[in-house]
Amino acid sequence: MPSSPRPRVLVTRALFPEHVERLSSEVDATLNQADVPLGVDELVAGLAGVEGLLCAGGDRIDETIVARADALRCVSTISVGTNHIDLAACERRGIVVTHTPDVLTETTADLGWALMMAAARRVTESERWLRAGHWKRWSLDQFLGVDVHHATLGILGMGRIGQALARRGAGFAMKVIYHNRSRLAPEIEADCRATYVSREALFAEADHLVLVLPYTRDNHHVVGAAELARMKPTATLTNIARGGLIDEDALADALEADRLGAAGLDVYEGEPRINPRLLALSRVALTPHLGSASRDTRRAMGDLAIDNLIATLAGRAPAHRVV
Ligand code: 8YV
Repeated sequence: MPSSPRPRVLVTRALFPEHVERLSSEVDATLNQADVPLGVDELVAGLAGVEGLLCAGGDRIDETIVARADALRCVSTISVGTNHIDLAACERRGIVVTHTPDVLTETTADLGWALMMAAARRVTESERWLRAGHWKRWSLDQFLGVDVHHATLGILGMGRIGQALARRGAGFAMKVIYHNRSRLAPEIEADCRATYVSREALFAEADHLVLVLPYTRDNHHVVGAAELARMKPTATLTNIARGGLIDEDALADALEADRLGAAGLDVYEGEPRINPRLLALSRVALTPHLGSASRDTRRAMGDLAIDNLIATLAGRAPAHRVV
């Protein structure tokens, strides 16, 4: 009896060799090992007759693409965030969308911490200065920053990554406050040693504020001029979630006018394009969307995304279904 044809899958990004091997052994995969960014036309053409899409955070899977992908049954993203996918359009067409939560929680919290520390202690700013050959003598007031230990850590968005950040606060003897759509159960608050406060209090009281909430249409520019005006002039603001949460021009205004201490940014509204005003500011530590970028975590994310994809295409329930 002829064996049934293997499902066809389009992959938008270069994968690790072990992921290529595994995927190729189970499906008929069209790979993109050259990592050439695929535009709308390429995605539409590439998805003709294809049942599975393995994509990542930077790929916009919008209504136009979904509507024309006749055979598509599963979109599996190698990310926890799904704001790049039109979930409603997928749901209408009965396309399963899966993502990769949990495996990146601790790694992303680590990066949040690294950026917060870098902003507070001027790590990247002083390194740039040193590399440029400016260091001629040590002095008492060189690159004075603000303390992280014993300060107040504010967290906006208290999901898995927010909680992992909060737990790290104990090691630095920090007071941890948070705001979230819904308040956490008392036992989780106790485990995180975190206190629920209003959004207004969070902005006003945090010495170091970290954004970790999922990006939706409703929280676009959740940090704008009014919120920045509420913050302490010495405070730091770190964003490891999505660029669209911050009004970047309002942030640049606040930093230029010394109304905010410093910022640590891993994500940007038009990434990979960076607002030139932020690039010009010294008190901003910038990384290129590295939140989950440890070797082990990216491997785990790839494994999970492939598990989700293969399960769905085989008619089984994937472990991490979004719609
Ligand atoms: C990804 C992320 O690395 O998982 C997410 O939502 O932001 C990062 O971990 C990035 O989106 C690429 O998929």
